[in-house]
Amino acid sequence: MSKPRILVAREIFPEVIARLEKHFEVEYNSADEAWSPAQLIAHLQGKSGVFTTGSNRIDAEVLKACPELKICANMAVGYNNFDIGAMTAAGVLATNTPDVLTETTADFGFALLMAAARRMTESEHYLRAGKWTKWSFDMFAGSDIHGSTLGILGMGRIGQGIARRGALGFGMKVIYHNRSRLDASLEAECKASYVSKKELLETADHLVLVLPYSPESHHAIGAAELAMMKPTATLVNIARGGIVDDAALARALRHKQIAAAGIDVFEGEPSVHPDLLTVPNVVLTPHIASATVPTRLAMANLAADNLIEFFSGRTPPSPVNPAVLAGR
Ligand code: DGY
Repeated sequence: MSKPRILVAREIFPEVIARLEKHFEVEYNSADEAWSPAQLIAHLQGKSGVFTTGSNRIDAEVLKACPELKICANMAVGYNNFDIGAMTAAGVLATNTPDVLTETTADFGFALLMAAARRMTESEHYLRAGKWTKWSFDMFAGSDIHGSTLGILGMGRIGQGIARRGALGFGMKVIYHNRSRLDASLEAECKASYVSKKELLETADHLVLVLPYSPESHHAIGAAELAMMKPTATLVNIARGGIVDDAALARALRHKQIAAAGIDVFEGEPSVHPDLLTVPNVVLTPHIASATVPTRLAMANLAADNLIEFFSGRTPPSPVNPAVLAGR
């Protein structure tokens, strides 16, 4: 029996390609070219599965042009690059890579928070530019992490990881807001208290965003929300571009409406709003919160597992729209 044909739409670890090749006839984007939707559609012809990353959009147009497609395995926990409604309607399974990146991403959220609040990159640029000539009492004085109030917007697995780091590692008071409240035992484990979004914005010394992107969370943090935050506050976005209004954030940072920010994800990335590039009090990183070698390998292997299990007739480990499996 011939092997199912799949497409790997971005470059990934060679050992994961080798694993996939045992099960599938694989075409892959070894040049790691950024394919346009039309190119993606062309490469998808005759394929029944695709291994994607967040930069590959799967929507109604792609699905209509690729009627043989049965599964899209995203190498990311977020799947806002998928139109899940259209995929479910077309009977196409979507899978993602939860859990394997939780702790790595929570580590990075904390690193970004500390770098921003303690002005690490700003002061490093100053040093590298040869501007450091004397000690001063207030040189790059930032704000404390330990003992401060940590706010978390979005309290899924990564948010809970950040809460545990803040409460247990740094003695922070942890408050959070989420669409649904955690159950009491999970709140106790994370030492986190549920508050309204207003209270979160007004009382957090450091606010970390970890909510999924959706039309409802678009610009969840805009000019009005930034105006509610403390002038000493830090904002960290490791969630998705578009959750923060980047132009409004650049203005708030420039006018010291908030003290600092750490931003890993951007509206329209890999483009970055030019105003963010010229404000000093923001740490900017290129969407690397899950980027450690073991975690990226685990993500790639989980995406591969989803494809392998699906085509073996078993239930893939992390389906996003499992209703599709019921109709198999
Ligand atoms: C995710 O998993 O959603 C990350 O943002 C991709 O690295």
